[in-house]
Formats: sequence, structure tokens, C-alpha cells
Amino acid sequence: MAMTTTMPSTSARTRVRCRAATEPRNARAPPTTRTAPKVPEGAPTVPPQDLPQRPRRNRRSDTVRRAFRETILTPSNFIYPIFVHDEGDENVPIGSMPGQERLSFKNGMIKKVREARAMGVNQVVVFPKTADNLKTPCGKEAFNPMGLAQRSISLLKDTFPDLEVYTDVALDPYNTMGHDGMVRSDGVVMNDETVYYLCQQAVSQARAGADVISPSDMMDGRVGAIRQALDDEGFTNVSIMSYTAKYNSAYYGPFRDALASAPRPGNEDWKIPKDKAEYQMDPANFRECLREAALDEQEGADIMMVKPAGAYLDIIRALRDSTTLPISAYQVSGEYSMLKAASAAGYLNERDAVLESLIAIKRAGADLTLTYYALDAAKWLQEGN
Ligand code: PBG
Repeated sequence: MAMTTTMPSTSARTRVRCRAATEPRNARAPPTTRTAPKVPEGAPTVPPQDLPQRPRRNRRSDTVRRAFRETILTPSNFIYPIFVHDEGDENVPIGSMPGQERLSFKNGMIKKVREARAMGVNQVVVFPKTADNLKTPCGKEAFNPMGLAQRSISLLKDTFPDLEVYTDVALDPYNTMGHDGMVRSDGVVMNDETVYYLCQQAVSQARAGADVISPSDMMDGRVGAIRQALDDEGFTNVSIMSYTAKYNSAYYGPFRDALASAPRPGNEDWKIPKDKAEYQMDPANFRECLREAALDEQEGADIMMVKPAGAYLDIIRALRDSTTLPISAYQVSGEYSMLKAASAAGYLNERDAVLESLIAIKRAGADLTLTYYALDAAKWLQEGN
């Protein structure tokens, strides 16, 4: 390595004698009240190792560590995912995600977002819980101009004009079969037909006031089609955050619980894929994320997302190094639930483990982080450490 050749080798270090061998070490310093630290009895007396480099010098005090810290968390980078419902005025706790609730879209949602803003979290992504009687095989409720998502987005922008509102684009919360696209009787999820509806969903969300459209469906060509549809309707200022590298992950379990959106069982007559492997990425694959990223960039994405986050830090880093677009990462429901469960059991210190997980995601290269811990993390950061 080039670096080692420029450094003096240990034997070549010049030694300057600064005191007589008989003189005590501090004889030529101002008198001081500081006393020498005690060493434990039995500690050996050894000559200093001959080390030009001692990395611990840069870690030796809190002040020094703060001065050299490479990654700093700030609530400005957090996006808080919220679940909303309109089946009454009460918030409904989500069993598999302790601390998170399906918020009543009027009072509960506004109150929660006000709280988030007070903590410095000014970005949310909205996930509506669709009533069962509104679900159909084609999921057309997704672009009902008066749908729950559209009403929630609109109410948020009316109440907080400067709030950055992200939306979810996919059919799964609206679709009787629980897939992100329409399912054919042989079990194939139809790509281009789904994209046609996703464009209508995106435009309806933009009309409601959304700032950032976030397609999470993983259909081919959807970013370009949505960009075109938005532009055609005059929404050139509405951004697209693409779920670029969304993996077919077990960590989405609690989310599907929260929205009752898991794939449903099929039958002989109508096959329904039991998971989303046909369109979401294979967790075993790395190179594929670069292909998806190149396409999303060409198609006009403004932000590229990696999801989940914690188990996919290599993917975050890969995208970060291969594009100049901002990168977001989604610390998903399963990651949240694991941290919650381990903390509740007393196995982990919740605050420390959560902040470490968020630092790791940012260090890997995420500019933005979607996290259910946004409010707690913002509070912990405010309290300092
Ligand atoms: C829906 C969607 C999912 C998530 C975000 N949007 C679930 C899925 O793909 O099945 C998961 C979020 C989480 O687990 O926190 N397309």
C-alpha cells in the first residue's frame, strides 16, 4: 500500500532526548494540582510500545469523539410512517408493533403529526387501512378521489402546509387477493395493467396534495409511467421516491398485520401466489439492485429506496456509491418489532440499540430513513447523551 511507504519505519524514527535520564518526567512543566492517576496493584511496568500510530488517541474523550464523529443523526432525515383508518374516532393499537397504532384519520392522525413536528420530524408517509367491503380484485379503491388515503393526504396538507407528505403506491391494501398488482387466474401478477392503475393512483394522490409519490409495488416500468402521468397532469413538482431495491422479506409481517394486507389463499380456480417473490427482489441477490437502480434513475426517480434497511446495509452502500440521487432506507415493521420485543424482555437497552441501528443505516449511506422509531429517536436525540 502506498501509505505505508510514506511513513517512517519504526527503526527509522528519530529519537530526541528531552531530559536527563535521572530527571523526573514532570520536572520541566508548570506546577500543577493534577495528580498522577493510580494504576491497579500488580500492573507491570513496561517501556512504551514503539507505536507512531495509536488510533485510541482520537477516541480518548467524549469531546474528541464528538469532534471526529462521521455520522450525526438528525430528525430532519426521518420519515415517520403512519397507519390511518376511518372506522371510528379511536386509535387502534397494532398488536405486533407495540407503541404503534392505526390512527383515526381525523383526530388521532393530526394529533400524532403535530407531536412529530414538535420533535423536528416534518415528513410522514401515509398507509391507509382499507375496509374489507372496499376491496376488489382490481383494487380500484386505490384511486378513489375520496378514498381514505386521498382524504388523509388532503387533511394533512390543509392542517400543515409545510409538512412533507409521502404516499404509498401499490394495490395490496385495496386488493382482495393481497398482492401489489392484479392477479390472473394462473397466479401471474399482471404488470402493465397494474401500472396503468398505479398511474391513476399516483395522480389521485397528487391531486389530494401529496408531495412525494412512493411506488412500493416493484412492477417493471412504473417509475417512468408515473412520472409521465404526473407531468401530463401538470404535477411536475411532485417527486417520486421509488422503492428501488425492495426485497421479498419476512420482515414485513407486522405491517401486513397492521393493514390486513397479506396475500390471501387461492384455490384451484384462481391461483394466488403465497408470497411476493415474483416481483420483489430475492434476498440472495446483490447485482440485481444495480440493475433496478439504473432503470429507476433513467425513468426519473428523485429518491431511491432500499428496503428493509438493517439486513441490507450492503445494498444501501452499493446504491449510494452508484448514483448521485439521494438514498432512503426503510427500517421496516419487523425490524421495529424485533427491537421492541428484545427491549421489553430486558435483553437490549432500547434507546442505545435503536440509535445504533439508525446510525448504522445512515453510515451505510442513507440520507433519509423511514422508521417507526422516528419520534422516540428524535426525543432521545433532543435529550442528548
Ligand atoms: C406495500 C408495502 C409493504 C410495506 C410498505 N409498503 C408491505 C409489502 O410489500 O408486503 C412494508 C413496510 C413495513 O414492513 O414496515 N406494498
